[in-house]
Amino acid sequence: MSDIQQIEVPGHSLGVRVDPGPEREDRPALWPSVGEYPIYDPFLYTTMTTDDERNHRFHTALERLAPGRRILDIGTGQDLLWAREGLQAGARHALAIEVIEAAFHKAAASLPAITSQDRITLLLGESTSLRFAPRADVCVAEIIGSLAGAEGAAAVLADARARHLEPGGLVIPHRAVSLAAAVRLSDLLPEQPVAFAESSLPYLRNIFDWHGSPFDVRLRVENPPADALLSEGAPVEVLEFNGDLQTQQSTTTRLVITRPGLVDGVLTWLNLWCLPDEEPLDALRMKTNWATIYLPLFDCPLPVEPGDVLEVTLATALSDDGVHPDYQLNAALHTADGQRHRGSLASPHHGGAFRSRAIYRALFPAS
Ligand SMILES: C[S@@+](CC[C@H](N)C(=O)[O-])C[C@H]1O[C@@H](n2cnc3c(N)ncnc32)[C@H](O)[C@@H]1O
Repeated sequence: MSDIQQIEVPGHSLGVRVDPGPEREDRPALWPSVGEYPIYDPFLYTTMTTDDERNHRFHTALERLAPGRRILDIGTGQDLLWAREGLQAGARHALAIEVIEAAFHKAAASLPAITSQDRITLLLGESTSLRFAPRADVCVAEIIGSLAGAEGAAAVLADARARHLEPGGLVIPHRAVSLAAAVRLSDLLPEQPVAFAESSLPYLRNIFDWHGSPFDVRLRVENPPADALLSEGAPVEVLEFNGDLQTQQSTTTRLVITRPGLVDGVLTWLNLWCLPDEEPLDALRMKTNWATIYLPLFDCPLPVEPGDVLEVTLATALSDDGVHPDYQLNAALHTADGQRHRGSLASPHHGGAFRSRAIYRALFPAS
């Protein structure tokens, strides 16, 4: 059973299907994907500053790469986290940039308490628009999405390498990969309705307010049961921040079904390397603030058997803001009886269709 709650969005009141069940840390939960919008608040920043799995990787990379260097912290947030850690690790200077005004002001207010504050410069703005000198030796930027590139890391870091980093300068993190596996959404939320967690509603409203109208937001699934996957995971998006960094890309992969079930989409999740030679952070298997993203493909779930193949192509192209990617997913399910079912999804960063798919019509029932 789910409830319908009304939220006020530009122009009208919108019905949203909400899970009345308890919100617990280990219980699956459905949220809109939030990281790619300028709606960060103290709660979201705290989920990151308390993410040990993430933080120890950035910390280790800074300890190795920052000593004696000029570092650039893109998206420093309200806590100046990597700028401060870089200085503690022995960086000569840290330039920190933040685009959200409230976070910038909070970071600015914390500067006087920092012992090495004379070695930090804090700027308000978007790194892609700012000009400054001298260039940095190391750029640290935690602008990685649950769908790895969704926060614009490719365009922002390609620009940083071209304009803000010394030739041969290094980027932390080193690599981010999105993996995908075949799933059915209701298997990701067992014994509970397919409905948003109540605590996510303010974020849903903030995203629609920011855009000016509702649209089919990406669906973030927290704590999905690992046994809901119908195939192994395979890479569908690869970002090599210190290598051949593509701002637009297309990857085709074959997901071989490993157990009988019903499929209606894919689940994607992040693998992240801060240094090239470490075990990656795996957002499906580790406790971290990054969650998984469910992308719908078929309005009606289709039966699958072991050996069937879901062939998936994930393509990215820069949206009209020139930074955040729009995603396009095309898929063909090949079953043993020789049938082929095609599915697709356009998942733009902002705008696009509203209630285009059955799942969005169910989540946002028309009054
Ligand atoms: C995921 S949060 C990370 C915050 C903090 N660095 C941390 O790791 O806990 C990303 C932050 O980067 C900011 N941001 C994203 N792209 C940016 C850009 N191109 N220039 C400046 N700030 C940016 C966002 O506003 C947000 O505060």
